Parts: sequence; C-alpha cells; structure tokens
Amino acid sequence: MSERVVILGGGVIGLSCALELSRRGHRATVLEMNRCGGQASGAAAGMLAPYSENPESPDPFFRLCLESLRLYPEWQSEVRRLSGLTFEYTNSGSLYVAFHEADLLGLQSRLRWQREHGSSGTIVEGKSLMLLEPLLSRKAIAALHTPEESHLYAPDYVRALERACRNAGVDIHERLGEVSVAQWEGEIALKSADGRTFGGDRLLVCSGAWAGRLAETFGIPIPIYPIRGQICAYEAKPAPTGAKLVEHMVFGNQGYLVAKENDTLVCGASEDVAGFDASVTERGIERLAKWNKQLFPFLERMTPFHRWAGLRPSTQDGMPLIGPLDESGRVLFAAGHYRNGILLSPATAKLAADYADGKSPETFCRAFLPNRFQRYAGVNSMREETDIWLAKLGSDGR
Ligand code: FAD
Ligand code: GLY
Repeated sequence: MSERVVILGGGVIGLSCALELSRRGHRATVLEMNRCGGQASGAAAGMLAPYSENPESPDPFFRLCLESLRLYPEWQSEVRRLSGLTFEYTNSGSLYVAFHEADLLGLQSRLRWQREHGSSGTIVEGKSLMLLEPLLSRKAIAALHTPEESHLYAPDYVRALERACRNAGVDIHERLGEVSVAQWEGEIALKSADGRTFGGDRLLVCSGAWAGRLAETFGIPIPIYPIRGQICAYEAKPAPTGAKLVEHMVFGNQGYLVAKENDTLVCGASEDVAGFDASVTERGIERLAKWNKQLFPFLERMTPFHRWAGLRPSTQDGMPLIGPLDESGRVLFAAGHYRNGILLSPATAKLAADYADGKSPETFCRAFLPNRFQRYAGVNSMREETDIWLAKLGSDGR
C-alpha cells in the first residue's frame, strides 16, 4: 500500500531512504533544516570499508556494513541512472599498516575471521608491500591488504542522490530551520521554524547527530551525540609517469588517507567531543598532518590546502538505530551511523523501506532496534551514563 512518509533530515541516510521508498511506490517528503548533504554526509571521506573499520568481530554491525558493500554496485548504478549524474566510485582496495610486531599480531587475528566473511585479504610485507604502495614509509613492517574495499566521492554522491530523489518524485524542502515533531501518536505532523506544517502516515527520523534531541518528544532515551571529525586534503598530482602518489586507501591506528580522482589526497580524521561545534582547529589539523607524515614521508614538504569538519552521529553502543520506535510502527528511525553512514546508505535504505512495507528483517537486524536503550530507568539516568561515556571517548580536539 502506498503511504506518505515524512523524512526528517536530508543527509545521505534521509535521501537514500527517500529514494528507496519512492522506488517502492511510497510518497516521500524530505524536510531539511539547511541544505541536503550540508552536514556529516558532505564532509565524509567516502570510504566503503567494512573490514578496515570493523577490527573486532563479525557482530551485527559488521554484517550490516558488509551487506551494504555488496549492495553498492547495483545501488550506485541505479543512483547514476535515476540522477543522470556521475560520481567517483573506485575499487582501490585498502592497506591497514602496521609499524610494530604487536600491531601485526592484531592484523593477523583480524584477517582470520574476516576471511570467513568474504575477504580475500592477505598480509603483505617487504618488497610486495613497497610494490603495492611505493611511497609508504620504510618504517612500515607489514599491512593487511583488502582488495574488496572501495571509496566514492561523498559530496558528488550525495548530490546525485538528491537529484535522483527529485527525479523520482520525492518532495524535498530545504532551509526550513529546525523542524519539530508536533504530533506523532495519531496522524504525523511536523512544524518548520517558519510555522509550516507537514503531514504524513509515517515519520522516518534521519536527523543524524541531531536525532538525540528527540528523546523528550518521544519519551525514550535516544543516545545519539555528535563526534566531530576534522579532516583535510593535500593537492596530489600524479607523477609524470601517471602513477598516483597513493594507490590504496591507507589506514593506520591514527587515521587514514585516500586519494581521489580529482588529484587530492584526503586525510582524516579526528574524533572530538565538541558538542555541535563543527569548526576546524589548528591543533586538530596539526595532529593529522603529523601523523600523515609518519605514514607518507613525502607529505613532510606539503601543507593541506583544504580543511573541513563534520559531526558524526555516534551512539552509545556504536550501532545505528534502525527500525520502529514502538509497535505501531508509525515512527521509524534510521540514525546514528557514526563512522559508516556513507557505506551503510544502501543497506539502511533497504531495511527502513522493509519496515515501512511491514516486512520482517533478518534476525541480526533486531540489534539495531531503537528501543534497545529502554533498560535505562529514564532519560536522566541515560544522560549521566552518556556523560561518563563521552568523557572516556574522546579528546576535545582543541
Ligand atoms: P547528516 O549527514 O548529518 O544528515 C542529517 C541531516 O539532518 C542534516 O542535514 C541536518 O541538517 C538535518 N537535520 C537534523 N535535525 C533536523 C531538524 N530538526 N529539522 C530538519 N533537519 C534536520 N562514513 C563512511 O561510510 N565512510 C567514510 O569514509 C566516512 N568518513 C567520514 C569522515 C568525516 C570527517 C566525518 C565527519 C564523517 C565520515 N563518515 C564516513 C560518516 C558519515 O559521514 C555519517 O555517518 C553520515 O553522513 C551520516 O548521515 P546522516 O544522513 O545520518 O547525517
Ligand atoms: N569513516 C571515517 C571517519 O568517520 O572518519
């Protein structure tokens, strides 16, 4: 049955869900306080790296990330077709670099379980490593090479998603100021800052790092908080031979580098507890630059020409909130994708649309249900726990 679904937030998650809902015959409306893609989604490095970003175990989060990587080839070609726009989507593979024996042991044990989950990764050392990444520091002792991992150019991808949505008939309203939920227990009603009302049969909350602000509205703990990522880019023209300065996505314990088709080398990213402050600090970028030089000594002579930051929507247990708020299913969530929202865009769109269509998701997806935090006595005790967790988590980046 075709429904009117109002989507709060026009980032990669809101737009992907809108597109999928519209492909399934629903009437989707996106409400965005500023510009679509103007927050975390437009700031992202665009890495589609479920193996490198999940070092611990094949938990539900890893499974969702992996499923999303598998959905990407078809999904991104559909986004191109529907938008008529193109964007970089490169299967560069990745290298996760070790400088010490202890790091190498960690990579070996990660490789063991990841090979059971579709990775054709190998540990590369010595000359083989230098052949794969000739300008990597000679101090690197080995790396985990994962050929399956890819990346895209996030600002262009989000632009294409937005255009695909518009072409598919999604109604998009931008620059609305903060939109509030006026009514959700019967008919859905949202109000924009200038007093306009938007109604629908269902509400899908995709408001990224801001989603936690709805805890009072819905009367349940929604432990989603902003973690700032500062990131920068160097100009990186290829050598006269045409060889790129950096061929793979390169990860280390402190961050990552990824070379884009537009001859820039993107290097990220900090994890700062700084509230909703999305500014760039000297100290934040200096730290990145210092670490980048350790990985690639040629960066010693270079200065980043572009610096920016975005607010990742982090959650207390590290997993997104995807699914219905309560049994009525009138309010759905798709928020809290932290470091992996670009990767997770197709899988989240599919899962959210399945919920809207009344389909049962795979059992492991129950791990993402938004009501899982209700074991906390109330919103206040949740806040206290969260303050302790935030204090442990990050630097203030200043
Ligand atoms: P957002 O993009 O923040 O969108 C939420 C939108 O909701 C915003 O546009 C906001 O204006 C709007 N909104 C909020 N509240 C309201 C309201 N009340 N009314 C109206 N509108 C509202 N992910 C990857 O997969 N790979 C990467 O390589 C990667 N690199 C990253 C690098 C950096 C530096 C950062 C910061 C993030 C990175 N991420 C990466 C993470 C990824 O960017 C996020 O997980 C993803 O963008 C989250 O998407 P979203 O749509 O939920 O949030
Ligand atoms: N996934 C990379 C980042 O969030 O910085």
